[in-house]
Amino acid sequence: MKKCFSILKAVLLSAFVISSYSASAQTHAGDAKMNAFVSNLMSKMTLDEKIGQLNLVTAGGQSKTGSVVNEGVEGKIKSGAIGGIFGIYGTKYIGTAQDLAVKNSRLHIPLIFGLDVIHGHRTIFPIPLGMSASWDMGLIEKSARIAAEEATAEGINWVFSPMVDIARDARWGRISEGSGEDPWLGSQVAKAMVHGYQGSNMKNADAVMACVKHFALYGGAEAGREYNTVDMSLIKMYQDYLPPYKAAVDAGAGSFMSSFNTVNGVPATANQWLLTDLLRKQWGFKGFVVSDYTAVNELSSHGLGDLQQVSALALKAGLDMDMVGEGFLTTLKKSLKEGKVTQAEIDLACRRVLEAKYKLGLFDNPNKSINADREKRDELTDDNRKFARQIAEHSFVLLKNQGQTLPLKKSGTIALVGPLADNHLEMLGTWVIAGDPNKSVSVKEGIRNVAGDNVKVLYARGSNITDDSLLSSRSYFFGQKQPMDGRAPQVMIDEAVETAKKADVIVAVVGESANMSGESSSRSDINIPESQRDLLKALAKTGKPLVIVLFNGRPLTLTWEDKHASAILDAWAPGTEAGNAIADVLFGNYNPAGKITATFPRSVGQIPIYYNHKNTGRPFDGNGPAKFKSDYIDISNDPLYPFGYGLSYTTFNYSGVKLNKTSLKGNETLTASVTVTNTGKYAGEEVVQLYISDPVASISRSVKELKNYQKISLQPGEKKEVVFNITTNDLKFYDNQLKYDWEAGKFIVQIGTNSSDIHVASVQWDK
Ligand code: BGC
Repeated sequence: MKKCFSILKAVLLSAFVISSYSASAQTHAGDAKMNAFVSNLMSKMTLDEKIGQLNLVTAGGQSKTGSVVNEGVEGKIKSGAIGGIFGIYGTKYIGTAQDLAVKNSRLHIPLIFGLDVIHGHRTIFPIPLGMSASWDMGLIEKSARIAAEEATAEGINWVFSPMVDIARDARWGRISEGSGEDPWLGSQVAKAMVHGYQGSNMKNADAVMACVKHFALYGGAEAGREYNTVDMSLIKMYQDYLPPYKAAVDAGAGSFMSSFNTVNGVPATANQWLLTDLLRKQWGFKGFVVSDYTAVNELSSHGLGDLQQVSALALKAGLDMDMVGEGFLTTLKKSLKEGKVTQAEIDLACRRVLEAKYKLGLFDNPNKSINADREKRDELTDDNRKFARQIAEHSFVLLKNQGQTLPLKKSGTIALVGPLADNHLEMLGTWVIAGDPNKSVSVKEGIRNVAGDNVKVLYARGSNITDDSLLSSRSYFFGQKQPMDGRAPQVMIDEAVETAKKADVIVAVVGESANMSGESSSRSDINIPESQRDLLKALAKTGKPLVIVLFNGRPLTLTWEDKHASAILDAWAPGTEAGNAIADVLFGNYNPAGKITATFPRSVGQIPIYYNHKNTGRPFDGNGPAKFKSDYIDISNDPLYPFGYGLSYTTFNYSGVKLNKTSLKGNETLTASVTVTNTGKYAGEEVVQLYISDPVASISRSVKELKNYQKISLQPGEKKEVVFNITTNDLKFYDNQLKYDWEAGKFIVQIGTNSSDIHVASVQWDK
């Protein structure tokens, strides 16, 4: 293993110009005052106190995602054996813990307080996959800003977000926590979130330090199975998976979290190439790296040795803080004595943790965010709720709308059915720690709030979320259980059908419960659960217009639904204002404009499926004989809904692509434009997407890659010219020596409403 690692390292070192690097070069690159402060503090610290700074603990609670929680936390704080705590919030708890550290520990070093603030803190926004479908970086940044304001009001100064793992496999439950499959779009989101969290200065009382996760490639888990092996080529890593992490470094992210998986055979948490050579030397990251939950201990299960050995490996690889497992705390001193780690390695990690606290201003004011007035004032305010409603509306994707079934009229009778229609808990989605389900708006309530008095709403539950006991038990945990309606499935369906018969239109609110996606929620079948499918089938038979409002933490296989429903509105898990936002869109107060950021397959057998795939040597374009072509004999290659897809209540017409030149040289700029016209009856927004393909190169390139987009707004009849400036930066890629550059030749510029429906023009670009 050692040998493979050094070959890999040699390849990479030769492929890049490495900035000269040493512990001191890195630490002196930043703020001289900070360095002097930290050096002075460290000169007073004992070895135990230094190792203590590397120890991150949790007292459990809702943040528990492994089998271990820490014990004896109070005593350890006092003795300086803890650097940070996560999983608690509220000024009372955090104030008490911080007091213990700054008043009772020998050197009064403040603790850092982390929390999984993933899509909002008290005010819950759509799950990240949903937010990314807004393609609105301003809104996404603001969601992170509000989350930071609310979290800091409860004493938090460090959030385990953004999650920027690229995912091309909808079986993987954590696809819900990221921004989908595209590295370019994922990079924009990573930047926006880091800026939103950290604000203009991390010392501000309302700023948190971002923790970018999970470094790296966690989304590439084989078979979409949680925590599974990742094994990918270097070109794929660099081209498709690493860009969002790099974008987060460039945006100034203060910390990173190592991932559970292997990267090139070495688990990320002990991977020196990843944590030091790539992250720090190549990318210039200056912050600290924390492990994921007990990931140091889990290196033993990966086969790297006992706890002492793996703790030493992780430290030497460049890991600074050990989450929960206390391998650093219990073994590093011994390893130092035995010469297995050096004092310099312990010092460097300690320095990085202390620097983070310094950057957050905790040495000046350990209680900067502990303010009971703010806690009361800044949580779930009317403005935050208003914003939650807005961003939820912008995240929704209209997948189908036959015969303009939507928007609904504000008159007549609606049959509202489905196990998610009158529900508060599932509105919030996965990874909600401080959000209160009792404060969320159900779809039933939202429709009542928005529809007005001329709409009669008849309600029937229709089914349970799932009748499958395994799926049910695995998607509810921490003592929660699926609230079951005890009636027989057919009785519930019959009631729903009778209700539907009395209505003009059916609105069926169905899909996944919050924790059918998220961590440790991989699925091999990504249909809507069968109990709800049976309900939909019975409803479709009534012949009434059937509108599906879909809850999902991942792309689902919706082939049946696409064929039989009149309209499908993908609402993901919209957060606190779910019901109001859904009703706004159903009744046309807001015209949906979201576009999916992860491809929806027709069948789970097509996975992994993503738009920026390679051509292969035997591509099948759907025409002519298929034998001996790259395809399936039982299904088409096409997805059900391609990346970037999403409809509107209005229609948009695209002109052909106009280029300012068809041949260019060197660093010239190409201008490509289209004219988009709103040809329908409603004002609406459209995400105009630019893709480029590079049909001849020294390596086999993706068929196309997203390079830019513009979100425009048009009144009925209005048209706009959308202009993109393209430079050679947009043509660059990693070749098989991992050199990042562009190659002269022909390029195809593609502009359109999604990754499949595009207009093209080609250009010759020479060096
Ligand atoms: C997850 C992380 C999370 C951490 C702390 C882990 O199980 O993978 O995303 O931040 O727990 O709660």
